[in-house]
Amino acid sequence: MKKSILEGRQTLKEAIDQVAEVAGYLWQKGWAERNGGNITINITEHIDTEIEALPAISPVYPIGTTLPALKGCYFFCKGTNRRMRDLARWPMENGAVIRILDDCASYEIVADAPVKPTSELASHLAMHNQMIESGNGYRAAIHTHPIDLIAMTHNPAFLEKDVLTNLLWSMIPETRAFCPKGLGIVPYKMPSSVELAEATIEQLHEYDVVMWEKHGVCAVGPDIMEAFDQVDVLSKAAQIYLTAKSMGFEPTGTTQEQMDELKRAFNL
Ligand code: 13P
Ligand code: ZN
Repeated sequence: MKKSILEGRQTLKEAIDQVAEVAGYLWQKGWAERNGGNITINITEHIDTEIEALPAISPVYPIGTTLPALKGCYFFCKGTNRRMRDLARWPMENGAVIRILDDCASYEIVADAPVKPTSELASHLAMHNQMIESGNGYRAAIHTHPIDLIAMTHNPAFLEKDVLTNLLWSMIPETRAFCPKGLGIVPYKMPSSVELAEATIEQLHEYDVVMWEKHGVCAVGPDIMEAFDQVDVLSKAAQIYLTAKSMGFEPTGTTQEQMDELKRAFNL
């Protein structure tokens, strides 16, 4: 059997193990029906000359957009149509390592198997391109389908700038502390489209989490666990909101004064 690219590469293996762990959480949370959601991580820091010399195991595919900061970068990506619950158990069979080519507009698969990357690759790679350009050191992007947060985007009032951010912050103080930038909103766009990718990175200038109206959420972070944590914290706040509503009352929420106090105390 062909050996995995992970063999003898401890730090790369740890990064992929973390992806698998988060993929399991997404399934357990009920956010990952069928193939729902996708994960990509920038693994360029783990690449050695042996990997650089690996031949492509796929044709060259277009990204659909040109992303100058990604020249020569390597990513691990969930495969399109692959299940999160399978990625959790067998990451290298349900994802692939890709290499961005010198034109910054195309890629090829180099390991372990020719698994075609997620259909949301344009959005993921556009997010990575922006993270590199900003120099924030972030290496992970996640897209998932949390029931509570998606349901909230079906209310037009919540789609106005920062309405949802303030509502969710006011449900429990930790939300503000651990998701200090809040969440941006992208009006409904065709899944997998370059338009969706462009609208997403526009919001990313201001936020680390972006809601895709009536579809899902995207989050970025230094690693995949931290990107997941931001969505988890927001989903918890959404759960508190809807639990109060289902008990038959409108939750009061913490006051603006209490939130301002928190902002000062935690230097947010
Ligand atoms: P993929 O299976 O192509 O990753 O698509 C899942 C998804 O959530 C699309 O938005
Ligand atoms: Zn989706």
